[in-house]
Amino acid sequence: MNKTIGLASDHAGYPLKEEVKMWLKEAGYEFVDFGTNSTESCNYPEFAHALAEAIERGELTRGIAICGTGNGINMTLNHHDAIRSALCWMPEIAALARQHNDANVMVMPGRFISSESAKECVDTFLSTPFEGGRHQARIDAIPVKK
Ligand code: RB5
Repeated sequence: MNKTIGLASDHAGYPLKEEVKMWLKEAGYEFVDFGTNSTESCNYPEFAHALAEAIERGELTRGIAICGTGNGINMTLNHHDAIRSALCWMPEIAALARQHNDANVMVMPGRFISSESAKECVDTFLSTPFEGGRHQARIDAIPVKK
């Protein structure tokens, strides 16, 4: 796994994104921040697409994204073929998002998660491997056939 993590948020996720940066630095990761850069109201798709496109280009392998509920930014990310983005609010779900879903982006709900839970989710998301096996066939069947 690439040790550089892509980050994206809207205004509602910006404060938690700043905390995530601190935790990543402490844990020896680097990051690329695709914005937003303040709590001024903005539209989450712009930042979600920027993160997703960097992963699609192969520049990054993992991302963390945050909006108020997590839903809008998660919906946007999952429109990209290369993205499996999972909404996580507790470490058990972050672990399963990696073990079963091989999620390459974790989304958190900035307005509905404590710092403590968010940190546990980040640590878990970055350290948990995909189990493969029966889960691989399920993941392979996710894309809409064109
Ligand atoms: C912003 O008010 C809020 O709508 C946004 O952060 C997110 O929750 C959307 O899904």
